[in-house]
Amino acid sequence: MILDIRQRIRSTEQAIVLRRDLEAPHTRPKAAIEIDVRPLTEADVPKILHAGEAASADDVLYRSRRRWLLESGLGTCYAAVTASDEPCYVQWLMSEQDNAQIQSYFGGAFPILEPGTALLEGAFTPAPFRGKGIMGLAMSLIAEKAADLDSRYVITVVGTNNIPSLKGCEKANFFPYLNREVAWSMLRRKVTFEPVAAA
Ligand SMILES: CC(C)(COP(=O)(O)OP(=O)(O)OC[C@H]1O[C@@H](n2cnc3c(N)ncnc32)[C@H](O)[C@@H]1OP(=O)(O)O)[C@@H](O)C(=O)NCCC(=O)NCCS
Repeated sequence: MILDIRQRIRSTEQAIVLRRDLEAPHTRPKAAIEIDVRPLTEADVPKILHAGEAASADDVLYRSRRRWLLESGLGTCYAAVTASDEPCYVQWLMSEQDNAQIQSYFGGAFPILEPGTALLEGAFTPAPFRGKGIMGLAMSLIAEKAADLDSRYVITVVGTNNIPSLKGCEKANFFPYLNREVAWSMLRRKVTFEPVAAA
């Protein structure tokens, strides 16, 4: 909490908005286990969004934030499930129809979605399933659901130091599109988006 207040007095945080063009050629990556993707169900919630008693503080926070997002009703939460239907990954798909709620829920931290653009948010793989390539494949499959929302493009936002997530995004065919800076000064937040420099 103290750190949070310090951050809000003066800090800057860099992230990258990555984008996938669903019409661009893409071969889905392989995962070490067989997975399928479907909307999250009530029965999945305690299995993937509630932390066990021995959970780390980070794990509790990751799962709590995602429970709150689920409770907000924003977008559709998809789960990747194993062959025995155990949830091993979650991520939310949102469309331009959700723009008003996205802006109010995340306080302007995401760009306003243009027509034909969807957003993926909240990627999470529980620790026992990490490093098996689940994010790359699951994100690739969930992004393709955006075509049902009449979207050709899908964006997502990742902190520049979240290497596992950046690698998973690249495997799912997401590439840098905008840079985002969140700057706090005396409890006021300013979010800016700039196009990434041409390669
Ligand atoms: C980010 C996250 C979803 C990745 O899930 P995952 O299913 O383990 O992803 P993958 O197995 O596809 O691994 C992605 C890459 O990161 C690597 N990786 C995994 N854990 C890592 C770690 N702790 N440090 C460095 N690299 C790591 C993997 O080896 C893989 O790289 P490789 O292809 O070169 O081997 C997962 O780590 C997570 O839930 N983190 C906490 C929440 C979070 O940060 N969400 C993303 C918000 S944008």
